[in-house]
Amino acid sequence: MGWVVSASFLLPLLPPQTDLAGSTPRPIVDRNGRIIAVLAGQPDHDGYRDATQLAFEAIRDAGNNARFPAEMRKHRRGLFAAVNVGLFYGQGQWTPCWLNNKDYTGLAEGLLANANIQRMAGFADAAFQLWAPRLYQYYRTHDAGLRAHDSDLRRPFKTSVFFCTAFNFGRSVWTFKHRDVLNLAFGWCAVHALGHYNATLGGHLVLWDLRLVIEFPHGALILLPSATIAHSNIPVQEGEERVSFTQFSPGGIFRFIDNGCKTVEGLEREDPEEYGVVQARMASRWEEGLKLLSTIDELTTTEESIVS
Ligand SMILES: *[C@@H]1O[C@H](CO)[C@@H](O)[C@H](O)[C@H]1NC(C)=O
Repeated sequence: MGWVVSASFLLPLLPPQTDLAGSTPRPIVDRNGRIIAVLAGQPDHDGYRDATQLAFEAIRDAGNNARFPAEMRKHRRGLFAAVNVGLFYGQGQWTPCWLNNKDYTGLAEGLLANANIQRMAGFADAAFQLWAPRLYQYYRTHDAGLRAHDSDLRRPFKTSVFFCTAFNFGRSVWTFKHRDVLNLAFGWCAVHALGHYNATLGGHLVLWDLRLVIEFPHGALILLPSATIAHSNIPVQEGEERVSFTQFSPGGIFRFIDNGCKTVEGLEREDPEEYGVVQARMASRWEEGLKLLSTIDELTTTEESIVS
């Protein structure tokens, strides 16, 4: 439990809870019963709690030891320095590439090598697989397709299917209202909050389109479609500390793989027929994406069939 939803925004499907450990997961479903986001909580044991504390200290200390110029601490998402690590694919690139973190390469690699952060990343992977098994499989299949194309393209965490991670540094990280347009449109983003703060007073995640304000205690995980749902945070109290790290996969990489690991121009030139098929598929991509989400009924049915 541990997800107090502010009364003024309360949806009937999310009654207020009082336990702040954030250990019991709570799916958020749409009117068709589809699980569109999950307050995944955190494993309820001391070992994991210790790991979240150490992960927090590692990210905080790495941030404190780094020098971030002013322009890095002010952007569309908020007033904090963010370091993205992992695979990206954008305009002008002929293949997805590992981002060049330049001066922050050591910092980034240090955090990726941190066993406690790896453990949290692995929990996000497991929760993703549990709550959206088809969407998760879509990520796995594309990851396998990318690896077949170029076996040197690694992911940030062996324990997790996501192509990218972002570390958000500062004393008090909170975001402006935004959508993550780079993320796969119907994909999920895994957000971990970390720090020393009273989660009843600040740090809430606001999901604007769902009219939800959600308590987000230290160590907890939320999975959400960050490209489609506008979201932000409420700042924590003066003197408190909060950082975060997120995992996501850029939509451009999925499109690259769907193009047979070619750029759109390359595919159009080399295989006009397949190019036509891919373009036609693009139009229905959104509906296909929605079909990858699961309903609660479906997940419980699957469990029964495994038992019988
Ligand atoms: C958090 O704040 C609430 C509301 O002011 C208070 O009742 C509670 O005791 C605080 N929790 C801690 C751990 O300080």
